Amino acid sequence: MRILELFCGIGGCAAALGPRAQIAAAIDIDRTALAIYAHNFPHTTAVRTIESISCAEYRAWGADLWWLSPPCQPYTRRGNQRDLADPRAAGLLAVIERIAELLPAYVAVENVPPFRTSQACRRLLETLRRCHYQVRTRVLCPTELGIPNRRARFYLVAARGALQDIPLPHPHPVPLADFLDDTLDDAPDAALALPASIAQRYATAIDVVDAGDAQASTSCFTSAYGRSHVRSGSYLQTMTGLRRFAPREILRLLGFPPSFQLPDGLTVQQAWRYVGNSLSVAAVRHVLAAIPTLSESCGSTAPRPAAGSHRHAPE
Ligand SMILES: C[S@@+](CC[C@H](N)C(=O)[O-])C[C@H]1O[C@@H](n2cnc3c(N)ncnc32)[C@H](O)[C@@H]1O
Repeated sequence: MRILELFCGIGGCAAALGPRAQIAAAIDIDRTALAIYAHNFPHTTAVRTIESISCAEYRAWGADLWWLSPPCQPYTRRGNQRDLADPRAAGLLAVIERIAELLPAYVAVENVPPFRTSQACRRLLETLRRCHYQVRTRVLCPTELGIPNRRARFYLVAARGALQDIPLPHPHPVPLADFLDDTLDDAPDAALALPASIAQRYATAIDVVDAGDAQASTSCFTSAYGRSHVRSGSYLQTMTGLRRFAPREILRLLGFPPSFQLPDGLTVQQAWRYVGNSLSVAAVRHVLAAIPTLSESCGSTAPRPAAGSHRHAPE
């Protein structure tokens, strides 16, 4: 199956599909995101606006699955919920038109839950139904897969042929401690520390988790983590105070494989931004398993912390 990864960012979809995926092209307007992508995946990338892609280019790529992870700001309260009137919805609108013209075998979309009731979603669903796609939608949170990270997202999978049923696995919750980097206990990273004055000022507004708590679950890490003190992700209680999660710990919680590396030279602020903009690899694997040809590669969604240097490495 050939896949087109639109709004690809750092490659959350490529990570979900694994090394054998045939990604015809990965497109994004952000050069740094694509540099991170190219550091990790051999697939063809292009710094382009989605709006600028012609029908001829889509035909040349010959992709069976069009994966879309468009900007969520048009549908969030923080982004003013301007929906179709927001210029950031233009890329998605352009793809909807191309879907009607070129009828790819499969379409899959990831976005924030409020997208579900947006005019943009209604426009997409109308197009898919008019073109005789079978459509499945759902909101899925990685916590439903046993991962201690909340990131509820809307998913849509559409097919001109059949889709498979994918029952939720019985999750075996993995404790937060398994996703943490224990080297940071011995050698704390000053860039991660939250100054005590800020911790005090925002004491009632920030989400603090303790890895000693087997039920601990982190809140959604957004692209504002490290810039905005509240509602951008959790803080970890340590012996010496509160610290932020390292980008590699967030990548593990998202389900990126251990082989995924951030390039040298990326600042921690940049890393938080791009990682926070990405997606739950485990949740995407789960929803893409509805596509018959992908059910084998995506079928196993059992959460496994990815890296080597963490506390209780699973056997
Ligand atoms: C929600 S993020 C998707 C992140 C991606 N799922 C990942 O794994 O990193 C949306 C992405 O769309 C890109 N983008 C926004 N508008 C675009 C446009 N008009 N054309 C191409 N890319 C665009 C942004 O640069 C951003 O990387």
